[in-house]
This record gives sequence, structure tokens and C-alpha cells, in this order.
Amino acid sequence: MGSTAASDIKEILLTEAQIASRLAEMAAEIDRDYAGRDVLLVGVLKGAVMVMADLSRALQHPKVTMDWMAVSSYGSGTRSSGVVKIVKDLDADLAGKHVLIVEDIVDSGLTLSWLIKNLRTRGPRSIEVATMLRKPDAAKVEVDVKYVGFDIPNEFVVGYGLDYAEQFRSLPYLGTLQPHVYGG
Ligand code: IMP
Ligand code: MG
Repeated sequence: MGSTAASDIKEILLTEAQIASRLAEMAAEIDRDYAGRDVLLVGVLKGAVMVMADLSRALQHPKVTMDWMAVSSYGSGTRSSGVVKIVKDLDADLAGKHVLIVEDIVDSGLTLSWLIKNLRTRGPRSIEVATMLRKPDAAKVEVDVKYVGFDIPNEFVVGYGLDYAEQFRSLPYLGTLQPHVYGG
């Protein structure tokens, strides 16, 4: 680690302002689509914390509830292990609810397709997905993601909730890492 997190960032892909303005657009769409229906936002820890906080506050919708789930599909590195397990389950009963999964990023889509299948068995009225970021590989799996903030190139990114070995989540913007961070 350098002396500041910022010195480990190679390039800023999305600024705080760009993220905020896109989230406002997504929130407006969600408000419109869920008008007259209660919506349960399901955040996927830990990456989705920032998206959840900012997206939920941008909503005008009067009847929003929130719950959290933690699943793990990645180790401490940058590659998918392909293994998904529930680390923390929801408190809420999903029966009859309109569920909107809030994600930081859809990469291989493995985590999300597994999660949707799992939540479907719990009897919700509907399940949709809102993700801040989507990578190109996501197109290979059949996951229907209704709300996408940004399609980004196939590069490892950090910040705005996303980590490398648990670091950089607190950066307010999204960036790529300097090679030295990976030990290069
Ligand atoms: P997927 O199962 O391949 O779609 O990946 C899901 C999870 O991998 C995300 O929720 C992130 O936690 C992590 N992930 C994927 N790409 C990145 C990245 O570029 N930076 C940080 N985490 C990532
Ligand atoms: Mg995640």
C-alpha cells in the first residue's frame, strides 16, 4: 500500500458526480416502475453498500424496505472461485413481495444467477435486479438485469464499494489499480 489509497489508483473510470447522476436516473425509473407497489430492496454485502445507500436515498417511492444478504463467490484475489455460499441470509420473508436485488457489479453473472434461483424458491411476487456496473462477460449468462448503471470494460475495478483484498471500498469514485498493488 502507498501512503494514500488514491496513489494506488491508475485511472478514474467514473467520478462521484457521474455515479450520482446515473443513480438519479435509475431511481426515477424505479419510482415509475414500482408506483403503487411496495418494494423490498435486497442489498448484497459488502460491495452493494454504497449503491444501496445512494440509490435508496434517490428514490421518491414512499414504501421502500431494505434487507441485506452476504454471499461469497470470490476469494481475496481478482478471480471468481465459482463457488457461491450464503454468509448472511435475509431477515425478511419474501413471500408475496416485490424484490429488487441491488448489486455493485455483475461480472460472470454466476453470483447473481445463483442468487435469483435461491430467492425464487421463497415465493416473492417478483424479482428484478439493479446493478451499478456490468462487465461484458455478463452477456454470456442468462440473467435478466433490468436496471444497469454503466457497462464497463473487462478490467478489475475498485472503489464505490468494490474491493481488492478488502481494500479501496471507501473510495467515492470507481477506478482501476496501479500494477504495483497486485505485487507487480
Ligand atoms: P460474478 O459472480 O462474476 O458476477 O461476480 C460477482 C462479484 O465479484 C461481485 O459482486 C464482486 O464482489 C466481485 N467482482 C467482480 N468484478 C469485480 C471487480 O472488477 N472489482 C471488484 N470486485 C469484483
Ligand atoms: Mg457483490
